[in-house]
Amino acid sequence: MPHPYVLLSAAVSLDGFLDDTGPERLLLSGPEDFDRVDEVRAGSDAILVGAGTLRTDNPRLLVYSAERRAARVAAGLPEYPLKVTVSASGDLDPDAQFWRTGGAKALYTTDKGAQRLRGLLPADVEVIALGPDVQWRAVLAHLGDVKGVRRLMVEGGGQVHTQLLRQGLADELQLVVAPLFVGQADAPRMFGPGAYPPGRMRLLETRPVGDVVLMRYVPAAPGTGALASAADRRWLEAACDLAAQCPPSRTAFSVGAVIVAADGTELARAHSRESGDPVVHAEEAALAKLDPADPRLPGATVYSSLEPCARRASRPAPCARLIVGAGVRRVVTAWREPDTFVRSADGSAVLAAEGVEVVVLPEYGDRAKAPNAHLLPPSGRVADRG
Ligand SMILES: NC(=O)c1ccc[n+]([C@@H]2O[C@H](COP(=O)([O-])OP(=O)(O)OC[C@H]3O[C@@H](n4cnc5c(N)ncnc54)[C@H](OP(=O)(O)O)[C@@H]3O)[C@@H](O)[C@H]2O)c1
Ligand SMILES: [Zn+2]
Repeated sequence: MPHPYVLLSAAVSLDGFLDDTGPERLLLSGPEDFDRVDEVRAGSDAILVGAGTLRTDNPRLLVYSAERRAARVAAGLPEYPLKVTVSASGDLDPDAQFWRTGGAKALYTTDKGAQRLRGLLPADVEVIALGPDVQWRAVLAHLGDVKGVRRLMVEGGGQVHTQLLRQGLADELQLVVAPLFVGQADAPRMFGPGAYPPGRMRLLETRPVGDVVLMRYVPAAPGTGALASAADRRWLEAACDLAAQCPPSRTAFSVGAVIVAADGTELARAHSRESGDPVVHAEEAALAKLDPADPRLPGATVYSSLEPCARRASRPAPCARLIVGAGVRRVVTAWREPDTFVRSADGSAVLAAEGVEVVVLPEYGDRAKAPNAHLLPPSGRVADRG
């Protein structure tokens, strides 16, 4: 299983602080927003906070609504999401509420941290020692592969949010701005100084919740320069895997496509020549599985291993036109179409001319090309345009 979907959740003051310097936790959200957070928790498989937040806030991190807990149980889930914390030092209070409330708990720590805590934590807490240091990728891989976590809600604090965002591991940021000031220079900030992924984040939603405002963003991944998130990469990988499932052809490319809603829900997937149709394209087949009036389409992203086609002989409309017609505003692809079958088939230009954002992640090009090797020049180098 891939890494979980990582959702960073936090509330800040108008001057950008997570807390004040006093001993009590500063309440930034109002009752309506605490209820919204409760709902997000109930929809998550696991909730993670850093050891710093455990030490300062002593949080319980429960789902408080009995109906939401009952709905989880009815859906075959544990009553409470898994609670997760991360500490290098192992400097944790064994009597903290975190360990003593809710359902399953896991601690990711160093070998030294595990040694320090040996025999101190309640017996049902799983302590996972990851060696001399704790790497976030190892934590996420373990949560996904071993614990079966698909949706991880990260509730701070600043250090943890900063690391996940900088390492390109956050899929979504849910930030609430509260109408008050902290006004202390040494209060903890949401994000510390340093290098962040370049580019603007993509705004998914803004919503007033009581007297606070919720903003939901998709962070940009580092190094791409494009607005691609960790989830974008995983979906594009899935599209490349689908391409490998196509019935072989000497006259057409093998392509995979996945359509994903703004909230990360998969809407449809398909590959070239599926269901015995000898000419159907992946994007075309995936779109055909959806109601054209589906309200999620304008916020959706089409992931396609190959750039959507701009011209084709076998159908009246090429995939780029079908995507525009469906109202989809974003396409992520691994490989620009070579001139093998059509000259200068610039699907990206067709999409861009209609205002559709096209993100190319060339680092997945080899995976997209692999099932098409027999169609490409033997050197493996294709006369790629641009
Ligand atoms: N407003 C909000 O939404 C909100 C939410 C949460 C927290 N907060 C506030 O945030 C403040 C705490 O934030 P913080 O930045 O000090 O702490 P934090 O991010 O909660 O935790 C930092 C600690 O986590 C552990 N850690 C982080 N990354 C690690 C890694 N890669 N490997 C190993 N351990 C790692 C370390 O623990 P060890 O030191 O044990 O090694 C580190 O000191 C509090 O004031 C709290 O009230 C506010
Ligand atoms: Zn096509």
